Amino acid sequence: MKKQDLLYEGKAKKVFITDEDNKLIVSYKDDATAFNGVKKGTIQEKGVVNNKVSNYLMGILEKQGIPTHFVQEIDDRETVVKKVEIVPLEVIVRNIAAGSLSKRLGLNEGTKLNKTVLEYCYKNDELGDPMINEYHIYALSLADEKELNIISSMSFKINDILTKYFDEVDIELIDFKLEFGRTSDGTIILADEISPDTCRYWDKNTGEKLDKDRFRRDLGNVEGAYQEIYRRLLGDN
Ligand code: TMP
Ligand code: ASP
Repeated sequence: MKKQDLLYEGKAKKVFITDEDNKLIVSYKDDATAFNGVKKGTIQEKGVVNNKVSNYLMGILEKQGIPTHFVQEIDDRETVVKKVEIVPLEVIVRNIAAGSLSKRLGLNEGTKLNKTVLEYCYKNDELGDPMINEYHIYALSLADEKELNIISSMSFKINDILTKYFDEVDIELIDFKLEFGRTSDGTIILADEISPDTCRYWDKNTGEKLDKDRFRRDLGNVEGAYQEIYRRLLGDN
């Protein structure tokens, strides 16, 4: 497989076309942004952690029957993925109140939610990724009913798998964001990444935040948190 032209550069990743029609290469950067690109910085070795952690978690999900875009890790920062058309939704799954949900509903961060919450945001940087519901999704034809049923049931299943998995390494999975894509035959699969950039991880015993909130909120030891997640999941690999 040969890496060819840059297809797209996002805030945290570059995507390259390859000599294979249905495959892309993703390259993870150390660049970090928050608040829709207003805050900018660098998190040393973040690209390596996110690449490896995301691949590792997608491997676990695949084994449990979740189809993902993961094909093969090339090196520390680069991975071959299936080419998909991204469904322009950020699907947020929440187990514990934090972040924008805490603000919106006046709930203390850490409040347990009596039922898992699923939210959809319209993936549109110009609009600041506004929260939308199923009616908006159908009205704007962002996904059809069959696709959204697959997306929501897969999201809950991913939550069950990952919550148990993180619990075993003493991490509470507070919330996370997923993105899905359509392959050339229209199959919905999990895409993008699952990493400390896109999840909230709290240490089960100390409550310490081990995710991108350390960068968003200037909590210090950002690199240490990313390395700790890598270490707990992948050990010395
Ligand atoms: P929020 O509480 O700020 O809405 O974030 C919910 C989850 O989504 C949290 O785990 C972080 C993740 N997230 C992203 O992956 N990308 C984003 O742009 C934002 C705002 C949040
Ligand atoms: N995706 C956000 C940004 O655009 C970052 C975040 O808060 O995760 O900067």
